[in-house]
Amino acid sequence: MASIDSFSFDADELHIHWSDQRESRLAGIWLRDHCQGSECRDAHSGQRLMNISDVPMDIAIDKVVQQPDSLIIDFSPEGHSSEFSNEWLLRNCYCLNRQYDDRSEAGKQLWRADSFEQGLPRFDYQQFCQRPASKLAALKSVKDSGFAILEAVPCESAQVLKVIEEFGFVRETNYGPLFEVRSIVDANNLAFTNLGLGCHLDNPYRDPVPGLQLLHCLASSTSGGESILQDGFMAASILREENAQHFALLSQQWINFHFEDQQTDLQARVPFIEVNDLGQVIKIRFNNRSIDTIKLPAERIKPFYDAYRHYAGILEREELQLHFKLFPGELMLFDNTRILHARKPYSAAGTRHLQGAYSDLDGLYSRLNKLEKSA
Ligand code: OGA
Ligand code: ZN
Repeated sequence: MASIDSFSFDADELHIHWSDQRESRLAGIWLRDHCQGSECRDAHSGQRLMNISDVPMDIAIDKVVQQPDSLIIDFSPEGHSSEFSNEWLLRNCYCLNRQYDDRSEAGKQLWRADSFEQGLPRFDYQQFCQRPASKLAALKSVKDSGFAILEAVPCESAQVLKVIEEFGFVRETNYGPLFEVRSIVDANNLAFTNLGLGCHLDNPYRDPVPGLQLLHCLASSTSGGESILQDGFMAASILREENAQHFALLSQQWINFHFEDQQTDLQARVPFIEVNDLGQVIKIRFNNRSIDTIKLPAERIKPFYDAYRHYAGILEREELQLHFKLFPGELMLFDNTRILHARKPYSAAGTRHLQGAYSDLDGLYSRLNKLEKSA
C-alpha cells in the first residue's frame, strides 16, 4: 500500500503526494463530514451520528500531523480532531477511485449472440445450493452477463420460491408470490396464452420494477415456445453509436406504461433508457404489451417515433438474440432491468408450463458481495 511522501494544506484543502506518485485533493468540509471518530460514528454499525448542520459554516483545516499510518487533522473553529488512516484515505479519495456504479453498463460484460461460443452460463442446482464457489459464480454471471441458467432444479411446484431463498427475497406482486406461465382462457396477460411474446422486460408499469426475474420450466412437450434472451445494455449502446440523438431522446423522454385487470391498476411514467449522473445506462424498460397511450406534445411525436422505431429495430436484430429451448428442470434467472426475454409461439398440443417469480437485485448483490468477501 502506498505511503504518504508529503502533504500540504490550507484552510480549505489538504493535498497529499503518495509514494506511488499519485495525488489526492481532499476538501476540509469533506474530511470533517467523514470523520471516523467515536463522537461522529457509531462504533458498532459505523453509521454517522453527526449531521451536516453540526459542522460550522466556517470550518477550516487548522493543523495536520502525520502518524506512521494515518493523518490527524485538527479543525477550527470547533477544535475537533479527526484521524484518518492512509488506507481509508486511499480507498475513499475521489481522485483515486473509479466512480463505480455496479448497476451501470461500465461494470458489465455486454454481449451479442456470438459471445457465448464457450457455452451459456449454466450451473448445476445442487452445486449452487451446496458449494459457495458455485453460487458465487452463478450470481456473478447475473451481475456481469445479466443472466444464468440453473440445471436439474427439482420439477416441483413452487420450487422457484425456494431458489430465490438461496440468495435473496421474493418480491410478491398482484400476480402472487409466483405466477403460472401456461395457456389459459380469458388470460389477463398475453404471457398466459400460447402466443409468441416479443423481446421485453417485465412489469415496466411498476415503480420500482422488480430487478430480477426467474422462470422455471416444469413441462415443455409442445412444439415451439423457444426462449430468447438479449442484452438490452448492448442494444442501448448500439443505439447511442448509431444515433446519439435517438439515445438522448429515449433517455430523457418519459413515457407511460400501464397494466389493468379486474383488481389491479398499475401505472408508471418512466424512460425507456435510464442513465446515471455520468450518462451511463443503468436500467432499460421495453414492453410492447404494456406501453400506454404515448402522451407527448404534438411537436415531440415525430422525433420520438423516429428514435423508438430505431431502438425497436435494433431489438429485433437476430445477431443480438440468444435462442434456446428451456427444458423441464431448467430455470432462467435474469436481470429484469437489463436482459430482454421473449418466447416463440407454441402449439396447442402438448403442455408447456413455467412458474415465474420476481426478486430484487439488491438481495442478490448483497449475497454476492458477502460471498466475494469470504471467498
Ligand atoms: C413472462 C414471459 C416467457 C415464456 O411470463 O413474462 O415472458 O417463455 N414468459 O413463456
Ligand atoms: Zn416476460
